[in-house]
Amino acid sequence: MGEYLLVRGGRPLEGAARVPAAKNSVLPLLAAALLCEGESFFTQVPRLADVQQSLVILSALGCEYQWRGRGLAVRRCAEAPGVLPEGPARAMRSSVFYLAPAIHRCGRVRMPMPGGCKLGPRPIDIHLDGLDKMGARVDWRGETLTVSAPWGLTGADYTLRLPSVGATETLLMAAVLAKGETVLRGAAMEPEVVDLAAFLQRCGARIEGAGSPMIRVQGVRELRGAVHTPIPDRIVAATLAAAAASAGGWVRIQNCQLEALAPTLEILRRAGCRVEPAANAVTVRRVGWLRGVGRVYTGVYPAFSTDAAPVVAAALLTAAGRSAVEDTVFENRFACAEGFNALGAKTARAGRALEIEGVRALGPARVEAKDLRGGAALVVAALAAQGETKVYGVEHIRRGYGDLAGTLANLGAQVRLCQE
Ligand code: EPU
Repeated sequence: MGEYLLVRGGRPLEGAARVPAAKNSVLPLLAAALLCEGESFFTQVPRLADVQQSLVILSALGCEYQWRGRGLAVRRCAEAPGVLPEGPARAMRSSVFYLAPAIHRCGRVRMPMPGGCKLGPRPIDIHLDGLDKMGARVDWRGETLTVSAPWGLTGADYTLRLPSVGATETLLMAAVLAKGETVLRGAAMEPEVVDLAAFLQRCGARIEGAGSPMIRVQGVRELRGAVHTPIPDRIVAATLAAAAASAGGWVRIQNCQLEALAPTLEILRRAGCRVEPAANAVTVRRVGWLRGVGRVYTGVYPAFSTDAAPVVAAALLTAAGRSAVEDTVFENRFACAEGFNALGAKTARAGRALEIEGVRALGPARVEAKDLRGGAALVVAALAAQGETKVYGVEHIRRGYGDLAGTLANLGAQVRLCQE
C-alpha cells in the first residue's frame, strides 16, 4: 500500500511554527522567471512536489536552476522548443502558468490539458480566450493544446468572465511583454496575484492595480530577473490554525499575513477558539469544546478561501451543534467527507456544501487522501481521534506541504511518515 501518515490523536498541540512561502505564489513565480533575462532568485522556497515538477518543466524550456540553501535561482540559458514535458504538465494545474512565458520565449507552446486536484471541472477557457484576444492562435488536436504567436502578443482590453486566479496570472504574464497596453477587467484579487505582480514590477514590468478588479499593464521590451521573497502560505497557516482547533492546546503561527488569514480566524473564533494576533503572527488556542458555527461560505478573495474549507471543516467535526461549509468555487471540494465519516464524524455532502453534525469524539481509521487540502484535512481530523489513524495518499499532501508530519510533530503531535 506504500506510504501513509500515522497519526496518534488525542494530544493537545503546544508550540510555534513558521509558515513557509506560498505554493500558489511560488509556482507562477517560477514560470515568470522564464520571462526574464538573467537570473531570478526566490528566497525560502519550500521543496514541494509541485516545485520539483515545475523545475522539470523549466529545464525542458531551456532554463537552469540551482538550489542555494533554501533559495532557488532560475536562469534561462538556451533556446528550446516550447514543448512541455507530458508527465509534469499532466501532474499539476500549475503547468498552465507556462503558456504565456513559453509563447513569449518560443513563439509557441504545446502541452496536454493541465492536471491537478480533482475538485470538479477545471477548464482553462479564460486563459485561452484572453490569449486569443491578445493575438495568439489556439489549436486543440485531440488532447494536445498548441498556442502560437510567432509575431508576439498585442495588448488588449479583456474582461474575464469570472475572476479566475490562474487566468489573471496567465494574462498578467502575457501582458508584461506584449506590445502596448493591456487592461484586465474582472481580475482576481488574491494575494498571490499581487505577489506575482510585485515580482514582475521588480523585473521592470509596468503594472497598475494588481489586487483590484482592474489591472492595467504597459508592455515593455524586456524584463530582467530579480530577487524576490514570496509571500507566506495562507493555506498552511489556516491548516495550523485548524490543527490547534481540532487537537486542542495552542499554536503560535509565525510569518503570516493576518489580513489574508482573517476569514479563517473569524470562523475559528466563532467556534470558540481564542485568537491572539501579534505582528506577523497569531496564536490560536482551544480551551474546552468548540461549538458549531452554522453555515459559512467560501468565495474569491477577500472571502473565506476555498482551500481552507476542508481543514476548517475538519476542526468543526467535534464542535457541539451544527455547521455547514459551502464552497462556491469548486464542485467537489469535500472528497474528504468519506474519510471524515470513517473517523466517526457525521457529515453529509449536499451539493457543494459539507453539512456537519458535531460528534463528541472521533476514533481511529484507515483513510485515504483524494486531493491535497482534503488530505491535510484528514490529518487535522485525525489529531482529534483517540487511537492510531493511518492516512494514505500522502503524495497528494506532499504537493502543498513540505513536511506536514514534521511540522505537527514539532508542536507535540504524534504524527510520522511510515512505509508499508
Ligand atoms: N475556471 C474556469 N475557466 C478558467 C479558469 C477557471 O471555468 O479558465 C473556474 C474553475 O473551474 C473554478 C473557478 O473558475 O471553478 C476558480 O478557478 P481559478 O482559476 O480561480 O483557480 P486556479 O487558478 O485553477 C488557484 C489555486 C487553487 C485555488 C484556486 C482558487 C494555484 C496553482 N491553484 O487555482 O489552489 O483553490 O486558485 O483560489 O494557484 C490548492 O492549492 O490546493 C489549490 C487547488
